[in-house]
Amino acid sequence: MTQHPTRRDLLTTAACAATLGLPSSGLAAGGGRALYGSCVKLSALDAEPDYAAEIVKRCQLVVPEGALKWADLRPSRERFDFTDADRLAAFAGRHGMRLRGHTLAWYGAMPDWPEAITSRAEAERELVRHIETVASRYVGLVASWDVVNEAVADRPKDASDLRSFVWTRTLGPDYIPIAFRAAASADPLARLVLNEYDIECADERSVMRRAVLLNLLRSLRDKGVPIHGVGLQGHLHGDRPIDRAGLQNFLVQVRAMGLDVLVTELDVIDDKLPADVATRDAKAAEIARTFLTTIAEVTPPSAVLTWGISDRHTWVPQWFKREDGMPNRPLPLDAAMRPKPLMSVVEQFARASA
Ligand code: G3I
Repeated sequence: MTQHPTRRDLLTTAACAATLGLPSSGLAAGGGRALYGSCVKLSALDAEPDYAAEIVKRCQLVVPEGALKWADLRPSRERFDFTDADRLAAFAGRHGMRLRGHTLAWYGAMPDWPEAITSRAEAERELVRHIETVASRYVGLVASWDVVNEAVADRPKDASDLRSFVWTRTLGPDYIPIAFRAAASADPLARLVLNEYDIECADERSVMRRAVLLNLLRSLRDKGVPIHGVGLQGHLHGDRPIDRAGLQNFLVQVRAMGLDVLVTELDVIDDKLPADVATRDAKAAEIARTFLTTIAEVTPPSAVLTWGISDRHTWVPQWFKREDGMPNRPLPLDAAMRPKPLMSVVEQFARASA
C-alpha cells in the first residue's frame, strides 16, 4: 500500500522549503535570474531516473502536467483524488522545490459531470468548493496558482470575447473574480495568476487576444480582485516572429497594474522548422531568446518554466506532428537528456544550470 504524505507532511516540507530560503512568492530571490521550473510527467518521474535527475538538478519549481486539473482531481462530483498531486508535492518538498498550481478553472481537462450544472447558485457552489478544497490543501507549498487558465476565446470576435465553457455558461465572466476570490481566501500565501497563450505574435488573432486579456485584467483590477500576476504560456511557434513592440506595449500596461509576469509553459513548436537538427535547434533557441529578451527588457519574469524539460516527454506531437515524421524538438533537453541551445538560452534568464 503506497504511503501517501499527510497534509502535515506536506506542510512540514513547506517549512523546510522556507528555511532553504526559497522565496515565498515565486519571485526571483535575488541574483537577478528567475526561478526555473518545468511541468512534470508523474509516470516518468518514477520510471526514468535520468528524467528525475534532471528535474532535481535544474528546477526550483515543478508543476504537474495534469494532476491538479479537474479531470485528474475530480473523478466524480463527490470525490477528490489527490494521489498524484500529493506525490509531486512530496517530491518537491524532498528536494526543496516549490510547486506551481495548474489549474483551478480551465475549459480543458474537465470531467463530464459539471456539464449537468445548470443554475448560477449551483455553479458558484461547485467552483468555490473545488477551489477552497484544492488550494487550501497546498498552502505553503504552492508558490503560485494558475487560478484561471486560457480565459480568452481562441479566436476572439471582439475585445471582450471569453472562452465559453461550463463556468461562463452558468456564471458569465463573473466566474473569474469568483475563482480568484476563492483562491485568495483558501491560500493567502500563493501568488494568483491569470495564464494565457498565443499573445506574443503580430498576427491579428494575437493582437486581439492581447486586447481581450488587457481588458480583462483592467476589469479585475477595477473590481479589486486579488490577482498578482499574468502567466505568458510561451508555446512559441518556430515559424512565427515575436511581435516585440506589441508584446512590450502589452507588458508595460501589465506592469503599470503592478502585476508580476511569469513565463509558464515555454517550448518551441518546431513543426514548420527545417528538418536538419542543428538548424532547427538553433532557430528554436533564437525565437526563445527573442521572446525572453522582449519580456526582460520590460521586466524580469518572476519565473520561467518550460512545459517539460526533455523532448522525450512533450505534448507538441499531439497537435503539431512534423510532416517529415521526425520527432519534435521543443524543449531544453533532447530525448537523451542532452542540453540543446535552448537550454543555454533559458539559463541566461533563469537558474536552470546543472
Ligand atoms: O491518462 C489518460 C489515459 O488513461 C488514457 O488512456 C489516454 C487516452 O487518451 O488519455 C490520458 O489522458 C491524457 C492526459 O494528457 C495524460 O496524458 C489526455 O487524453 C490528454 O488530453 C492530456 O493532454 C494534456 C493537455 O494539457 C490536456 O490536459 C497534455 O498532456 C498537457 O501537456 C497539456 O498541457 C496544456 C496546459 O495544461 C495548458 N496550456 C496548453 C498545454 C498544452 O496543450
